[in-house]
Amino acid sequence: MESQPVTTKLSRSAIFLVATLNESAQSTETIRAFCAELSGLVRAVGFRDLEGGLSCIVGFGADAWGRLFGVPRPQELHAFRDIRGVHDALATPGDLLLHIRASRMDLCFELATQIMARIGSAVTVVDETHGFKYFDDRDLLGFVDGTENPVGLACSDAVIIGDEDPAFAGGSYVIVQKYLHDLAKWNEVPVERQEGIIGRKKLSDIELDDAVKPSFAHNVLTSIVEEGQSLEILRDNMPFGSLGSGEFGTYFIGYARSPRRIERMLENMFIGNPPGNYDRLLDFSRAVTGTLFFVPTATFLENVPQQAPPATTAGAPSAGIDVPIVVGQGVPARSDGSLGIGSLKDDN
Ligand code: HEM
Repeated sequence: MESQPVTTKLSRSAIFLVATLNESAQSTETIRAFCAELSGLVRAVGFRDLEGGLSCIVGFGADAWGRLFGVPRPQELHAFRDIRGVHDALATPGDLLLHIRASRMDLCFELATQIMARIGSAVTVVDETHGFKYFDDRDLLGFVDGTENPVGLACSDAVIIGDEDPAFAGGSYVIVQKYLHDLAKWNEVPVERQEGIIGRKKLSDIELDDAVKPSFAHNVLTSIVEEGQSLEILRDNMPFGSLGSGEFGTYFIGYARSPRRIERMLENMFIGNPPGNYDRLLDFSRAVTGTLFFVPTATFLENVPQQAPPATTAGAPSAGIDVPIVVGQGVPARSDGSLGIGSLKDDN
């Protein structure tokens, strides 16, 4: 059982595509067929520059999962839940996420073009963001972003589902949010206060001492500790911008083995911990999208049968009340209950 390349190296370029699935039965068939075609497309485009490290992750929203794959459902898959606090994080539409990464934008763009040639008739793109690395991995606010990401085994442990959901072990959850910054307002803030808001020094990226770090610092509110264990996530945020429209932002993307830990970070940021002690970053950055997806394993994608799931399960609710039919790790069920593949030999 092989995961999608969630834990792959963070890249210099990325394209984030969020799309909704069109209504027709043909659309679901197109996407089901695309699942098995994706790895071939990545190989074909990626082989043109192996050092470019091209990769693509595909995620599915809660409603789309029912339409595309029926049951079983990933245990914690649900639509992004609105958070209303001092600032608001609201859900926006999205059935499909494509997270394309490479060291060169041309590789990302070529793959996105090839993918859209296959699935363009089946989906409507609701957001397309082209992200770039900015100087020393900084966001447009001028701070290094990504320093405290888990690495190695700690990274897989943070993002890859294990025994807690055996039918979907090897999968992952991902939340994306597009933030727009008011850079003029931010740049008026003295650097020392900016450092208090983030919790790190701006130039050196060194973490502020606990004695001087405010309780509302971003890295305090996003540190979730449960039973002495730190609940980590993997972020691959990217700056983006458009000079003509004056849009400057950070595309937040966070992977985790459970969406709950990302939701807790968001609650701390938007509502505050305790309530009211919110993330001051949000006084300068507005979340304009919010969507949650499940990232099945690569093995699952390779084995999606062409046949659509039965109508009784196709519109299964997203609250996770289905009784999952466990058919084996990371492999989709067919409507006839069989696995739809000749052999399970690659499934270990
Ligand atoms: C405007 C959007 C955001 C910006 C510009 C931003 C920027 C940053 C920066 C500069 C750091 C410090 C360096 C680092 O460790 O990476 C950081 C840390 C972090 N951020 Fe964000 N972030 C944003 C949104 C979010 C959101 C929405 C979440 C989670 C829901 C999040 C979770 C984290 C976590 C977990 C850390 C590491 C905390 C630690 O353990 O020190 N960030 N972020």
